[in-house]
Order: sequence, then structure tokens, then C-alpha cells
Amino acid sequence: MRVSEAIVGRQSIRAFLSDRPVTDDQIKALLNIAGRAPSGSNIQPWHAYIVRHERKQRITDACSARYLDGDEGEYEYHYYPRQWRQPYIGRRRQTGFGLYGLLGIERQDAEAVKSYRVQNYQFFGAPVGLFFTIDRDMEQGSWVDYGMFLQSFMLAAREMGLETCAQAAFCPYHDTVMSILEAPAEQMLVCGMSLGYADPEALINTYRTERLDAAEFMTVLD
Ligand SMILES: Cc1cc2nc3c(=O)[nH]c(=O)nc-3n(C[C@H](O)[C@H](O)[C@H](O)COP(=O)(O)O)c2cc1C
Repeated sequence: MRVSEAIVGRQSIRAFLSDRPVTDDQIKALLNIAGRAPSGSNIQPWHAYIVRHERKQRITDACSARYLDGDEGEYEYHYYPRQWRQPYIGRRRQTGFGLYGLLGIERQDAEAVKSYRVQNYQFFGAPVGLFFTIDRDMEQGSWVDYGMFLQSFMLAAREMGLETCAQAAFCPYHDTVMSILEAPAEQMLVCGMSLGYADPEALINTYRTERLDAAEFMTVLD
């Protein structure tokens, strides 16, 4: 697979084949490839936790219960702007409405929205869940590095026929997740991720998001 194909063809997958396993060797190989991502002074500020089977189920049960109880949790770091404004809120809405529209979910239908969103905590049926953490004393530069690591992981997965969905949905329940992972208190949760083979029949996986044309965010100077 060409690099450009891997990048352009990647999309967040939200329905996986739950009975098609991913091996430990595959996961390790992917992490070894992603670990080749650049980081300032090569400090490699990432930690990855892999859950399958029982531990994954514990996370599913605990996070689903909190979500369905109406417990919004609390973000440990601000993933989104504190004050939404244009053009970002518009782009966010377009993404959400597009997805709900495809699935026939009315935004006002709180139950339908909930039963869709809770699937985040079921890893969208994926056989593997990943959680990525960072040491708390790392600075913003390490978060820049982290993005490169995550994208490298997601692209390398595609070369193996695997797909992913990065998930900040776990972040508000970081305390629950980190405790089930038995992660040290010095680390904080960056995000979760589902990994597996895409369900080729699932309508949700046909959803493609749009992108700005480069002309809209580039400035050419003499
Ligand atoms: C760090 C990160 C966290 C995300 N969290 C979630 C999430 O919790 N649930 C979800 O369904 N999608 C999540 N997404 C997927 C984004 O919605 C998606 O990347 C965006 O809409 C662009 O669509 P695409 O990935 O299909 O190109 C996340 C993406 C990133 C990069």
C-alpha cells in the first residue's frame, strides 16, 4: 500500500468483525512501526496498553454504566476548545449530523443517540482495545510527538488490512480506565483506540468525512 493511499483511505471505523482476532504479534509489530515516529530529541513519550477479553470487558462494562447513568465524567486535559466558535463548531456539527443522518438518528432522540454513542465503550465490536498514556510531566511538545505516533499506528494497521478508530470518548472516564489498566498515577490517558477488521457490511463504515482544500488553510508567501 502506498503511503498516500494509506493516509487518504484511512477513515474512522465504527463497526468491526468481533470474531476475527488480531494476534499479539500483529499488535506488537504495529507498535514497533509506530514507535519509529519522530519525537523531539527522540524521547518517545508514549505508553500503550492493550486489552482484549476480560480486561476489555471490564472497561466496557464500567464505562458503559457510567455513560448510561448520565455521568459525564471529567476530562483530565482539554481535548476540545473550552469556548466553541466558528469555524470549528460548524465543522464539528457537520461531522456529527452527517453520521447521525446516515444512521437515521434524530438528534433530539436522546435514546437513539445514547445507544449509538455507548458503542464507543464497546470498542465498536473490535476484538482489541488500546489505551495510550503519557507521563504527566511531559510538555506540549510531547503531545505533538504523540499525534505522529498515533497516526503512524493507524496507517501501519491499514497495511495489515486492519482498521482503527481513535477514541477520546474514554477520556472523561480516565479514572475508571486507568484503574482497570492498573496504570501508574504518574501517567494520564491520552485516548483509547479500537483495532480490528472492518465489518464490510456495516452502513456506518460507509461514512466519509470531508476535508478543506489546502487553499483554505495555506498561505503562500514570497
Ligand atoms: C484523538 C482522536 C479522538 C477521537 N475520538 C473519537 C471518539 O471518541 N469516538 C468516535 O466515534 N470518533 C472519534 N474520533 C474520530 C473523529 O471523529 C474522526 O477522526 C473525524 O471525524 C474525521 O473522520 P475520519 O477519521 O473518518 O477521517 C477521534 C479522532 C481522534 C484523532
